[in-house]
Amino acid sequence: MRRILLVVILGLGVAAASSLWRSSNRVVADTSQTSAVFDSDGKLKLPVGYRRWIFIGAPLTPNGLNNGKASFPEFHHVYVEQKNLDAYLKTGAFPEGTVIVKELTRVLNPTFPDGSRSEPSGRGFFNGEFNGMDVTVKDSKRFAATNGWGFFNFGHHPLPYAESAKEASAAECAGCHMSFVAKTDMTWVQFYPILRDGDKTK
Ligand code: HEC
Repeated sequence: MRRILLVVILGLGVAAASSLWRSSNRVVADTSQTSAVFDSDGKLKLPVGYRRWIFIGAPLTPNGLNNGKASFPEFHHVYVEQKNLDAYLKTGAFPEGTVIVKELTRVLNPTFPDGSRSEPSGRGFFNGEFNGMDVTVKDSKRFAATNGWGFFNFGHHPLPYAESAKEASAAECAGCHMSFVAKTDMTWVQFYPILRDGDKTK
């Protein structure tokens, strides 16, 4: 009888340990997963949930300062996932699989020719509607030809964006980043305070 009890207890122990092992394994698999999902044609699927990633900056090149014809007259909202930001702050480089999203938002209903309007806080630019999205993905093997990063455009227009995007040519995107920011991981880190200065709040 005692022996049976022992076997049962042992069995339960093994089951518990193996389920623990499996669940800890699952956690490991999740954190190593990349948000870059490619379809069978090698197109990048529209990233999911990116507006809840870490918001790192918002360059603005308004029409009013570009002879009325800026290539991107919108705010450029830039997002990166926390795990990749943390790694950057620690090592000064983004890990493989990092996805950076730059989503455009128009300036809100301009009342002045330069695109600005007046609000109680002052005359300036306020966020209008979403108007397009560019994405970069770090994968040194897949994008070896463009310094380890792939470039994707999901449209320059209001929602909805394209569901997937093929890799843009180097002439269209990567060439400019390679000319100016090849040494800072193909990213304009100088425009994002947390990347440039670190997180001084901790
Ligand atoms: C003429 C140069 C130039 C070209 C061409 C260009 N970019 Fe950029 N890109 C920039 C600059 C400058 C910034 C940062 C300042 C800003 O957004 O105004 C930037 C920022 C970005 C960012 C935010 C992360 C970062 O690197 O700072 C992404 C994502 C991005 N570009 C993707 C693209 C994609 C996709 C294309 C092609 C469809 C493209 N870029 C074409 C100059 C360029």
